[in-house]
Amino acid sequence: MCNNASRSLNIRALEKIMHAPMSFFDTTPMGRVLNRFTKDTDALDNEIAEQLRLFCFGIGNMIGILILCCIYMPYFTIVIPFLFMYAVSSFSYYQSTAREVKRIEGVQRSIVYSTFDEILQGSDTIKLYGNTELFINKNKDQINTMNEAYYLTNALQRFFAVTLHFASGCLNLVVTMLCASNAFPISGASSGLLVSYLVSFSMQLIQSSKAAGQLEQLLNSVERVCEYAVDLPQEASYRTEPPNTPSAENWPIQGSISFRDVCLRYRPALPYVLKNLTIDIKPHEKIGICGRTGAGKSTIMTALPCVV
Ligand SMILES: Nc1ncnc2c1ncn2[C@@H]1O[C@H](COP(=O)(O)OP(=O)(O)OP(=O)(O)O)[C@@H](O)[C@H]1O
Ligand SMILES: [Mg+2]
Repeated sequence: MCNNASRSLNIRALEKIMHAPMSFFDTTPMGRVLNRFTKDTDALDNEIAEQLRLFCFGIGNMIGILILCCIYMPYFTIVIPFLFMYAVSSFSYYQSTAREVKRIEGVQRSIVYSTFDEILQGSDTIKLYGNTELFINKNKDQINTMNEAYYLTNALQRFFAVTLHFASGCLNLVVTMLCASNAFPISGASSGLLVSYLVSFSMQLIQSSKAAGQLEQLLNSVERVCEYAVDLPQEASYRTEPPNTPSAENWPIQGSISFRDVCLRYRPALPYVLKNLTIDIKPHEKIGICGRTGAGKSTIMTALPCVV
């Protein structure tokens, strides 16, 4: 299911990108587009299914263990809602903090990348001015700041693991005490079965919570690819019949071009670059266009295919 969903999302996103208007490519950095088709697609193809499998596997195991306990010790059912509430509240506490820390780490990481890119591009200038040390130190400082956030991510994971270990340790203790004190009529073999399953409970709890956290982060990738696959603005269809297409009979014999009050802007929100331009270029005439940079010389060429 995941593979099929990922494939169809990817194909739809690619089709939409192929028909996106030029303004989209003017305003979107190429790295962002590449990211959707590399890292995000990889998350869709490989990671989500695996994390979903781990999550379902852990949840299934835990439910099995709890049912086993309830069958042997009916009063154990009372503990389950409290255990559930404890797990959910510590998960949401951990997840809301981890999300913010991850965001800080992401910001720091992109700063490191962009500085590294700048240093690579400007290495000649840096060497020329003898500022190598300065930039090495700058890079080191930024990597340190990024690692501070990365360290926090790990510390948070540890904190979460300890919290869940504590909860399942308490659960183990209670069940073992109940088994040992003969509060319920359970045989020695059944007690052994219960305790041996409960030992794996904490691992399952941590594994499925981790998988749930990962899933939430990976769903961001789905959201990003979906944004391209569904919401991307589309340009006009490739083939439209212009109102007065030159046909074989009225195809111009002379290569003359005339602009009459041509106005052109690159996007609706931008000011006009060409304002009421009127020129006549006669056949065989050679034309030179002068103007300062940004005056709109290249734009005249851009406007040519649009003029009919
Ligand atoms: N793709 C684009 N999207 C938005 N604005 C643009 C785009 N291309 C050019 N412009 C704007 O249109 C104006 C004219 O640009 P144009 O490239 O035609 O100038 P030019 O005369 O060819 O300059 P140059 O001498 O540097 O080649 C500039 O203000 C520029 O910022
Ligand atoms: Mg130009």
